[in-house]
Amino acid sequence: MFDAIAPRYDAVNKAMSLGLDSLWRRRTVQLLGLPAGALVLDVGCGTGDLVRALGRASARPVGIDISAGMLTHARAGKGSLIRGDAAALPFPTASFDAAVSGFALRNFSDLAAVLGELGRVVRPGGRLALLEVSTPTTPSLRAGHAIWFNRVVPRIGAILSDEAAYRYLPRSVAYLPSTGEMRAMLDEAGFAGATRRQLSGGIVQVLTGTRRV
Ligand SMILES: C[S@@+](CC[C@H](N)C(=O)[O-])C[C@H]1O[C@@H](n2cnc3c(N)ncnc32)[C@H](O)[C@@H]1O
Repeated sequence: MFDAIAPRYDAVNKAMSLGLDSLWRRRTVQLLGLPAGALVLDVGCGTGDLVRALGRASARPVGIDISAGMLTHARAGKGSLIRGDAAALPFPTASFDAAVSGFALRNFSDLAAVLGELGRVVRPGGRLALLEVSTPTTPSLRAGHAIWFNRVVPRIGAILSDEAAYRYLPRSVAYLPSTGEMRAMLDEAGFAGATRRQLSGGIVQVLTGTRRV
């Protein structure tokens, strides 16, 4: 699916988030709270938006994605990109200062395996920040968001890209474990102090944690 939508992926992203995604990515990078020069892995990096945001924040980013199509259309800025499976990372244990992912959790067929791998490659004391979609808690925002996400987004996708793929997007939210389950999975993977922050009224969330020493 991602190979097919790769050529128009960035355009659809900007349209369906009304350009807010840049802000969310910057905030995700800030929440890592790392010094300049930190080596940061972005799993499911797609076309490289988070990799570039990390580079602009003076980190040393490495992006990994399983889709050759997404990588063909990616720009890495100061970072580097490789093709591979986030559930079987080709990196040594404790080789990164931090890891991030942007809107990829719902797409990993084995999320527990991916989190386990992140727990392996992030060094003790290192950081994790996972950016994902969410549902606003305020009733009015929730109603507006449901219309936008379930009706408008698939139409934007149909006009700019591939209708079926963007009908899958709202449905894919069902694959995201609950906050409680996510906290338990992060703990199991070795990340302590899991914290969830909602951004932009709860349209998206960032889960953070620190690799236990
Ligand atoms: C919704 S896109 C997100 C792309 C990018 N992170 C962003 O913020 O726009 C999800 C990405 O996860 C990738 N992906 C899915 N399963 C994967 C896996 N097992 N290993 C690596 N990448 C994977 C897909 O190829 C796709 O590029």
